[in-house]
Amino acid sequence: MAALSRRSLFAGACAVVALGSSEVPAAANAAVKKIAGGRLSVNLKAVPALSNVGGATRIGSIKGMPVGIARTGTSKYVAFSLRCPHQGITVGRTENGWVCSAHLSEFEPDGDLVLGPATTGLAPVPIKVSRGVATIG
Ligand code: FES
Repeated sequence: MAALSRRSLFAGACAVVALGSSEVPAAANAAVKKIAGGRLSVNLKAVPALSNVGGATRIGSIKGMPVGIARTGTSKYVAFSLRCPHQGITVGRTENGWVCSAHLSEFEPDGDLVLGPATTGLAPVPIKVSRGVATIG
């Protein structure tokens, strides 16, 4: 039964990935600037996916590493690598969080581990927020 459930989830995840979730959404793209050291500067109010607590999206890449961001509170955000901690495949966004298409590890929107084979959540990336702008990396 669990295998059937995972298979169903995988099919849904593939549909999401096929729609281009590995790309940075255009709306988020306009809100993101590369700054010194390859870091990212993000105008948080200009990212629709972060308009509500619980929202998350891929926000860009830092030195080739795909990075996600999630809103965890009214003014709290976390950033994390989108490389699966199991074997490094880039995870994709789903309705409920993130999923790795390689072996179906699942993660919460904020990167916490839900289901292995990964044994940890998505690796945190430093983030500082000041006056509605996040500096990531
Ligand atoms: S590489 Fe992601 S679950 Fe194996």
